[in-house]
Amino acid sequence: FPVDRIRNFCIIAHIDHGKSTLADRLLEMTGAIAKTEKNKQVLDKLQVERERGITVKAQTASLFYNHEGQQYLLNLIDTPGHVDFSYEVSRSISACQGVLLIVDANQGIQAQTVANFYLAFEAQLTIIPVINKIDLKNADPERVESQIEKVFDIPREECIRISAKLGTNVDKVLQAVVNRIPPPQASTEDPFKALVFDSNFDHYRGVVANIAVFGGRVKKGDKIVSAHLGKAYEVNELGLLRPDEHPTQKLFAGQVGYIIAGMKDVKEAQIGDTLYLQEQPVEALPGFKPAKAMVFAGMYPMDQSEYTGLRSAIERLTLNDSSVTVQRDSSLALGAGWRLGFLGLLHMEVFNQRLEQEYNASVIVTAPTVPYKAVLSSAKLIKNRRAVQKNMVYIDDQRVMMKYLFPLNEIVVDFYDLLKSLSSGYASFDYENAGYQAADLIKMDILLNGRPVEELTTVVHRERAYSTGKAMCERLKDSIPRQMFEIAIQAAIGSKVISKYTTDYGGDITRKMKLLKKQAEGKKKMRRIGNVEVPKDAFISVLKRK
Ligand code: GTP
Repeated sequence: FPVDRIRNFCIIAHIDHGKSTLADRLLEMTGAIAKTEKNKQVLDKLQVERERGITVKAQTASLFYNHEGQQYLLNLIDTPGHVDFSYEVSRSISACQGVLLIVDANQGIQAQTVANFYLAFEAQLTIIPVINKIDLKNADPERVESQIEKVFDIPREECIRISAKLGTNVDKVLQAVVNRIPPPQASTEDPFKALVFDSNFDHYRGVVANIAVFGGRVKKGDKIVSAHLGKAYEVNELGLLRPDEHPTQKLFAGQVGYIIAGMKDVKEAQIGDTLYLQEQPVEALPGFKPAKAMVFAGMYPMDQSEYTGLRSAIERLTLNDSSVTVQRDSSLALGAGWRLGFLGLLHMEVFNQRLEQEYNASVIVTAPTVPYKAVLSSAKLIKNRRAVQKNMVYIDDQRVMMKYLFPLNEIVVDFYDLLKSLSSGYASFDYENAGYQAADLIKMDILLNGRPVEELTTVVHRERAYSTGKAMCERLKDSIPRQMFEIAIQAAIGSKVISKYTTDYGGDITRKMKLLKKQAEGKKKMRRIGNVEVPKDAFISVLKRK
């Protein structure tokens, strides 16, 4: 396929502005899928995406489009909108020359519209602004065009007004893709060179890598090398994603597709790796900046006998989601496990859900924490650091963009939900790391009959210590079954107890017998701290905020 008739682009936007719906229409109009009422977010293939109605994984589809008597190959990548998955967007952008920046005609520019615009702008991609949902009664495309002009400095004439739902003007989007986005700068005459920008693990075929071919060509039977490990493989299968795998004989410079080359171990297919022909070594492409984990949590098998199975499930899933960091960890109560880093709380929840749904794994997850840097010194400044306003820009007379410096642990758990409900859904939110700041934090222990429970030790702000300690003790009291003796549950800072509860001991004898039986059944799910038996699921319920 001639390189000058290839266009690689992705669709970026704030969450729910209609990327996946526009992708459906583009697939239909180019005949990649049949036109039916049922086409709803076709590229959202994962169960978790269907259940939550959001995109969490970027998906690729190759489309054939006839324009002025010529056939074009359009490679489309649909990306997630939520801030926690922005790593998917930055990776997708590296395989493209242009983007469709979708903005809701009613909501206008939102936090992730701005964040995603800058990702594309910094990568020097052609940006096509698309105003979606013009069919809505409250649509105000005029105003959104003014916002785009003001905030992004893009002339309003360049905006395309569409309804992805009804298909209005979607043909204009396809024409703009062909006319405005440049073809990839790649030559089939160069040695073969491809960037692995995504990959997943197939139980039967091993690693399936998504690649963008930056030069040359590759075919079945070729011997290729992955630059990262320097290992050689034979190409078993390759082809286009339309959006399902569509095997072809070759892949050429400028194309985006998939390749299967007998990689059996997930460590062999690093995202960001470069592939080349064994007889024609090339210099590796720059790859990707590693994602910066913001939220950490411990993850343990329900039972230690499930350790190996869970390990391979986590390895395979992180192959498909390379923004998760994994470190081995162990805990007295929960045994051997891992400490995982995520980009946010939604990311963590989605990862757990995918482990359960796609790998049938059941896990214990400990309280999410954010990274702290402890400076050990005798005195320190004691000052309560709350949010500090950095700047404020009026986007128009109804919308304002404000920048604040926040402690990460203040925003990571429920800030987004709170902001949404306080603003009746109007406010949107995005964040980036601003580095470590000194704060008045203390370590709080939870004690059972005087013994610290290691997995419940947390870092809290001094002002929150009392209320957090109290809430944790109460929840722990409710989740420990009655035992034959009294149990003292305490929250303590150093040697100072700040909250204390005592459980009753078992009353009548039948109740005691029942309890003993139940305990025997659940023996392996119990954790002994001193003389107290604690069910494993109690740890999770204590950590969960109600
Ligand atoms: P994420 O991938 O989760 O970020 O969302 P998205 O941007 O892909 O949005 P999606 O396509 O899932 O659409 C979000 C909602 O907007 C869905 O309920 C769509 O039916 C609706 N929607 C999309 N396009 C239009 C449109 O042109 N008009 C109207 N009225 N609704 C639309």
